[in-house]
Amino acid sequence: MKKFLVVNGPNLNMLGQREPHVYGSDSLEDIKKWTEEKLKGQAHVDWYQSNIEGELVTRLQQAHSQKYDAIVINPGGYAHTSVALHDAVKIITVPVIEVHLSQVYRREEFRHTLLTAKAAGAIMSGLGKQSYYIAIKSQLE
Ligand code: DQA
Repeated sequence: MKKFLVVNGPNLNMLGQREPHVYGSDSLEDIKKWTEEKLKGQAHVDWYQSNIEGELVTRLQQAHSQKYDAIVINPGGYAHTSVALHDAVKIITVPVIEVHLSQVYRREEFRHTLLTAKAAGAIMSGLGKQSYYIAIKSQLE
């Protein structure tokens, strides 16, 4: 069975309570359960969330030697600022798919710069919780 890592950055632990008009009413745990149900046991998925940039970098470095088939990352606000996360994504040799729940290009200008996405193989923005499922599913076919 293919193995995936889903990495979530800062403030994504607050989903459900955080700006629900932008991010929806599901918590990260709800999204995890929904995604796992949709996958119907077709994939093994490890979920990780941290608010700390260095912890996200370390998790990606660990993933490098953990034989994942692909990595899905929502870097949260670090997508727009973090050269360190960009560099960590570049180390990964398997497909990395960046997802954003919201359509960042319809939002404030500072969200239009995506440093991590420049290192990712694919990017999805604006499909809400569906993006996690679609990203994994795309690697199963
Ligand atoms: C986000 C978009 C980012 O701009 C924001 O800082 C987030 C969430 C999204 O999923 O839409 O934390 O990554």
